Amino acid sequence: MKFFIDTANVEEIRKAKNLGVLDGVTTNPSLLSKENLSIKEIDNHYLSICKILEETGKKGDISAEIISSNYEDIIQEGEKLSSIHPKIVVKIPISKNGLKAIQYFSKKNIKTNCTLVFSSGQALLAAKAGSNYVSPFIGRIDDLSSNGLTLIKEIKDIYDTFHFKSKIIGASIRNTLHIIECAKIGIYAVTSPLKIIETLLYHPLTNKGLEKFLKDYKEKIY
Ligand code: E4P
Repeated sequence: MKFFIDTANVEEIRKAKNLGVLDGVTTNPSLLSKENLSIKEIDNHYLSICKILEETGKKGDISAEIISSNYEDIIQEGEKLSSIHPKIVVKIPISKNGLKAIQYFSKKNIKTNCTLVFSSGQALLAAKAGSNYVSPFIGRIDDLSSNGLTLIKEIKDIYDTFHFKSKIIGASIRNTLHIIECAKIGIYAVTSPLKIIETLLYHPLTNKGLEKFLKDYKEKIY
């Protein structure tokens, strides 16, 4: 399973690269808004992220989300974003115009990520439109006392049954269990804040075990 980092923060993306867990990046307007950028600086910011992805030597890409909602504007904005760098994937919230745009981009071989997916029906439409990636939001479903992972399993089953090519990125990751369960279900990727991926590292028995190994070595080996 691929590890995408859900952030627009260059430093965090570099840290993920150094840890060896950077398979791709997803951003959204809220994440971008945390970076203190002017509109003029945004393209360059995406470019810096693309450069870090290139340094990994992997095929990873970055999803850059459009903010337009009418069809012509989505096309214009998406084409502009994808012209920044070949690693840019146009991220499009699901809607009638969004689906139409995904079909347009698919014919032009411009990669898309259909986002804000909260149901199997939406995921089905996104796949039929030819979206390269589909991003169901696990945590936000859990927040409403429903089960985000059940949705992931349902979408995976539907895509497998009909051999859809769209890849599932489990999004809105809130904890390590989300990551482990996505891996068990067998989806293509999760997109997560780096700190949750880092939490996978820790186990109290590892710390305790290491402490004892070092103590024994120091005390008894001469
Ligand atoms: C998906 O690609 C989104 O950027 C993201 O996962 C949203 O997560 P949130 O619910 O933590 O904002």
